[in-house]
Amino acid sequence: MTGTLGQDRQLDDVSFDQLRQLVGLVDYDSSKDPFPVRAMDAVVFVAGNATQTAWFYQVAFGMRLVAYSGPETGNRGYKSFVLTSGSARFVINGGVAPDSPLHDHHRAHGDGVVDLALEVADVDQCVAHARAQGATVLEEPHDVSDEHGTVRMAAIAAYGETRHSLIDRSRYDGPYLPGYVAKESAIPARKRLFQAVDHCVGNVELGRMDYWVEFYNRVMGFVNMAEFIGDDIATDYSALMSKVVSNGNHRVKFPLNEPAIAKKKSQIDEYLEFYDGAGCQHIALATNDIIATVTAMRESGVEFLDTPDSYYDDPELRARIGEVRVPIETLKEHRILVDRDEDGYLLQIFTAPIGDRPTVFYELIERHGSLGFGKGNFKALFEAIEREQERRGNL
Ligand code: FE2
Repeated sequence: MTGTLGQDRQLDDVSFDQLRQLVGLVDYDSSKDPFPVRAMDAVVFVAGNATQTAWFYQVAFGMRLVAYSGPETGNRGYKSFVLTSGSARFVINGGVAPDSPLHDHHRAHGDGVVDLALEVADVDQCVAHARAQGATVLEEPHDVSDEHGTVRMAAIAAYGETRHSLIDRSRYDGPYLPGYVAKESAIPARKRLFQAVDHCVGNVELGRMDYWVEFYNRVMGFVNMAEFIGDDIATDYSALMSKVVSNGNHRVKFPLNEPAIAKKKSQIDEYLEFYDGAGCQHIALATNDIIATVTAMRESGVEFLDTPDSYYDDPELRARIGEVRVPIETLKEHRILVDRDEDGYLLQIFTAPIGDRPTVFYELIERHGSLGFGKGNFKALFEAIEREQERRGNL
């Protein structure tokens, strides 16, 4: 199998060329890849109240409900809502039966990501490679079937209690997985707010970042991306170390953070304390119109991190970023950050944590050629995070 894996995936109405621009794809030869990954299959969450969380993502993030599993469909243990926006798919699970293990997960971690599920062409090949490289196989490859066909799946362990399900749905045409029924949003459709998942960031314990970078390299054939930040993040500001790995064509990108020692408590330490261990910190959503997306989300009550006027008024910023799609005054009005590198530029903004614990949050990102993650904005961003940490009494 050669060429750019992913071209054959049904992508709602987001074309492969659109994705190339949206999430910064590169060409690669998958025939040399020991663990070829096509795309994110789904980001799977456990929520304390999946019914209301699914509603939140429809109202505030404009996602569409497409499938459901729960007591009404014969699943007595938990409710599961499947939501999409372009090629992005979220699955929200919540315990129904009092003895559901999902309650235990929620007690420990609060609302969070349990599974960064990956679509792969050959589940057995991936599991065999992962096992040979020492990965923990949580679920052996197996088939699940219903009237829509058969899905082959397995799962391997990642950081904390996070897993990677490996899913081959090439022989399946149901709404999600066997056991789910199609279900439509009761909320009227409106303009889509984002088209794809750009990257999913993991926070790991002090000293564990390189372990997990090496895990993704060796076990899953991921490559190190050009933006390798190492220790060059300003250490006074909620310091962290960060490195980025991706699958061959950069469709699946996993930055990995660990806390760094600084004068103040790292934002990563705050996460690790309140999530009770390593876990997914933020999910970046790719949009082709960040102004419209931020405006719509704010109107729905989503809170974003503030950026001080001084960020926009700094002549150095204006010199560094040059011409971008929208005037700086407009970016300032919406508190959107901008960064430029040798390949192009990107616009980005971060939400406040979306749950009760100061853990999971979102990024919106509009890429124009840049394959980076907004390195030039870390200082401004960390100052904003630090102000929020201070308000929570966690600095
Ligand atoms: Fe990010």
